[in-house]
Amino acid sequence: MTIVDKAAQLAKGAMQAGMKKAIELAPDSWLPGGVPDPLIAHKHGLIGSQVPRIDGALKVRGRARFAAEFPLEGMVHAALAYSTIAKGRIVALDTAAAEAAPGVVLVMTYRNAPRMHAPPAFMTAAKAAGGDDRPVMQDDRVGWNGQPIALVLAETWEQADHAASLIAATYEEEPATTVFALAKADSKPASFQGEPLRLAIGDAPGALAAAPHRIDVTYRTPRHSHNPIELHGCTLAWSDDTLIVHDASQGVAHVAWTLAQVFGIDEGQVHVTSPYVGGGFGSKTLWQHQILAAAAARLAGRPVRIMLSREGVYRIVGGRTLTEQRVAIGAQADGAFDALIHQGYVAMTAHNNMPEPFVLPARSAYAAKTFALDVEAVELDMVANTFMRAPGESVGTFGLECAVDEMAVELGMDPIALRIRNEPDQDPTTGKAFSSRNIVAAWHTGAARFGWDRRSAVPGSRREGEWLTGMGCATATYPYYRMPGGVARLTVTRDGQAVVEIAAHEMGMGTATTHAIVTADRLGLPLDKISFHYGDSRMPGTVLAGGSQQTAAIGAAVIAAQHALFAELLRLAGNTSPLAGLRPDDVGGHDGGLCKLDDPACRESYAAILARAGRDQVSVEGTASAPLEVQHWSMHSWGAMFCEVKVSAVTGEIRVTRFLGSFDCGRILNAKTALSQFRGGIIMGLGLALMEETQFDERSGRIMNPSLSEYHVPVQMDVPQIDVIWNDIADPHAPMGAHGIGEIGITGVGAAVANAVYNATGKRIRDLPITLDKLL
Ligand code: MOS
Repeated sequence: MTIVDKAAQLAKGAMQAGMKKAIELAPDSWLPGGVPDPLIAHKHGLIGSQVPRIDGALKVRGRARFAAEFPLEGMVHAALAYSTIAKGRIVALDTAAAEAAPGVVLVMTYRNAPRMHAPPAFMTAAKAAGGDDRPVMQDDRVGWNGQPIALVLAETWEQADHAASLIAATYEEEPATTVFALAKADSKPASFQGEPLRLAIGDAPGALAAAPHRIDVTYRTPRHSHNPIELHGCTLAWSDDTLIVHDASQGVAHVAWTLAQVFGIDEGQVHVTSPYVGGGFGSKTLWQHQILAAAAARLAGRPVRIMLSREGVYRIVGGRTLTEQRVAIGAQADGAFDALIHQGYVAMTAHNNMPEPFVLPARSAYAAKTFALDVEAVELDMVANTFMRAPGESVGTFGLECAVDEMAVELGMDPIALRIRNEPDQDPTTGKAFSSRNIVAAWHTGAARFGWDRRSAVPGSRREGEWLTGMGCATATYPYYRMPGGVARLTVTRDGQAVVEIAAHEMGMGTATTHAIVTADRLGLPLDKISFHYGDSRMPGTVLAGGSQQTAAIGAAVIAAQHALFAELLRLAGNTSPLAGLRPDDVGGHDGGLCKLDDPACRESYAAILARAGRDQVSVEGTASAPLEVQHWSMHSWGAMFCEVKVSAVTGEIRVTRFLGSFDCGRILNAKTALSQFRGGIIMGLGLALMEETQFDERSGRIMNPSLSEYHVPVQMDVPQIDVIWNDIADPHAPMGAHGIGEIGITGVGAAVANAVYNATGKRIRDLPITLDKLL
């Protein structure tokens, strides 16, 4: 770097830091959301009601076409062979038997794979989608146990799968780093989204040592593998130098851009569609299978479908990494926290970007006087770990919220009272105002509904026959995010239909339905007049279905498009319209047209405006405001989780008998799909608490349980009655008043279960999952 570059970089840094400060200090009204979204006050529309998903009928009839169901003319099927060592070189690769097997069209290895650039790793650039940044099948190097070493194309999937099993590799092994405890000595401070995770406020160790009450304990959480019902797959084809990919994706624009980098072509030459996704949870970004399939399609000159086996997902799609978390709390006798220390280790690779940021909940949850927070990353030779539903918070709340429960026992206080005792009136580590925080209300309504007063404070004191009963609780939390890049096209036709187009995603959470509701209420049209088009990289916008922020990102884009649409309609309405002279802010969408906000009788229908202007339709694009609200306020979703368990005193078997989530997540947009999001998150949390664990053989670096028969997730009989309530208090500073709800459901569940198990048995289990052997 030259001196000039350095100076420019410094100036840029200073400007960014100055900008950041200015945004923090700016008057509320200057910011997006400073003037609340008018829909927040709109009480009688569809928003908040129970609206069934508009794609429901297609899905139950099997008519929703998923990525690996697109039929392309002349298509062949791909299967992968995986390395069986963690690190080293391939010295011999025998592909003859595979090439001679029935139906085989091509065997691709590093010897014949086309030259490709390494994919930029997720979060290293605005549209980067790579699970890691390793080169893909470019040489004889092996970097993890399970890395693809060959791809076979055949006429049928069975033929490809069989031929892949005939590939024989000989390796020269090199010493791999696979033992977490040994590698810890070389840990490095981790950063997340470009910011260090280390944070110190005051002298936390000193305050801990001086506190009259202390707990100081270590919690452990294991690796988790991604298990969406829909396996990762895509169907793709080249035509000349253009690549079309029907993918299962949380980021169509991101995948298109990243594939373009890999193949050295223009972003516009890659077209990614993803109309339906059977669950993503952070895993449906860009992994080697899409890249290898595209490379093989180019070599073979035929369209390719690849669908990973379940084992394949474990081998090449990263999951959640393990954590080791020390939580230390120092408190006064009245419960006030003097010190909150949360620090520890995670494993990751040298090639990815996800140091499971488990300290994030401790930054905003409690009003401690001093803080020491830190995550140290330990590099291992393994598949790159990645985002998995509430990365950071899902396991971070296990440590933090168990520790708060342990402190309540130490103090002889009710754990809810202890939490409320430490309720902050502003963000305790940034000093920012909370945009909206009503968790105390969520605690009170949740406790009343759950019957918390029936809990015995004495562990092990409620027993019927062999069954011990206990209750536990925990705070749930996930940040409100909104990423830049929201752009929406909004078209209204003379027959009163509206179409929204945005490169967003439907992974089963109800995106299309929710935004059809929002658009209908914004424009004053019935729901059946709205079409919400998404899942195509050629549509406007760069929107990630991740970080529970897609709803806010789409919402802000649609607000901008609505504004542009009203301006254009008023212009078209001209001087003879009853609306003449009004500005976009003066009107609202109502009953199929625009009306003056403070005089609804002053109105004109969309049809009349377009007819007079001689237009069939009007189409505009709107770009979302910059997401400055997240820098100005402390913005989070919150929840209070309640769990009841029964534990067999004879076998240690744990049954979760009741669960309640009481949420404070702003305005709820669709009560029906929201309930499913919360409930699904809680069910995933029950798996985290009681079952999920990727068995990683530290000798070989190999995942030992790559199937749902050995990696357990909750099934029907494991899931009790789950009650979900919310306080529906709109955040005036968020589009539609809504906070994200996709991830918060999993947070706090591990701790609520562990705390209930403690209350039932008097045994404190500090390492997940809580299996019966740990209780005997
Ligand atoms: Mo989520 S882990 O941001 O899909």
